[in-house]
Amino acid sequence: VLRGLFVTGTDTGAGKTIVAAALMHRLRRERAVRYWKPVQTGAEQDDDTAVVSGLAACTETEVFAQGVRLPRPLSPHLAARLARVTLTVDDLVRPVARFSTPPFWIVEGAGGVLVPLNDRELMIDLIARLQLPVIVAARTTLGTINHTLMTLASLREREVAIAGVILSGPLNAETRLAIEAHGRVRVVGELPILAPLTPETLKHCAQQFDIDCA
Ligand SMILES: Nc1ncnc2c1ncn2[C@@H]1O[C@H](COP(=O)(O)OP(=O)(O)O)[C@@H](O)[C@H]1O
Ligand SMILES: [Mg+2]
Repeated sequence: VLRGLFVTGTDTGAGKTIVAAALMHRLRRERAVRYWKPVQTGAEQDDDTAVVSGLAACTETEVFAQGVRLPRPLSPHLAARLARVTLTVDDLVRPVARFSTPPFWIVEGAGGVLVPLNDRELMIDLIARLQLPVIVAARTTLGTINHTLMTLASLREREVAIAGVILSGPLNAETRLAIEAHGRVRVVGELPILAPLTPETLKHCAQQFDIDCA
């Protein structure tokens, strides 16, 4: 069983990658950390591993480069079909089967929790298999309360441990309060729009995260 956190999001583009990079900054204070992106779609233009490596100023051992890389920017099940490969949870977890603690893993999903991997499995099946507590990356803009509460409901239905929500975007106190109250969850971090977005500005914000994963 791995130790770490699984970073999911309310959607694609919700801030999972920037949240994962922030968590690397925040948690490497206390322990050895390692980032892993098991499924990267749109690999012709997108490389979250490279983004995190840069934004979190990672050393070589802080990045686990193995994973499925699919060229088309589509849902994993479809990107896989077009690449003539079949994704399964069994295969996806194989590269990390030989690891125990340490390091502390920061695993980034693709899309949200109900994104299909194949005809019968969803991203949430990978999350449940890895048995890592989940951080939900969510936007702060209109629509996020609904998306965040639905994501939390899906995770609870599968009895996945929820480590908290991290909001990214223009800060909005009412949004945060509504998510905490209705979601019965803690917002453990907030990332305002960072301009410029650099390892230094991100690290500074990440230090404020109130995260406890002893
Ligand atoms: N707080 C923020 N400040 C600046 N840019 C942000 C912030 N949050 C997200 N972004 C940008 O929004 C885009 C989507 O975020 P990303 O972390 O890649 O989402 P995901 O991994 O969920 O697809 C990226 O270009 C990212 O840099
Ligand atoms: Mg990402």
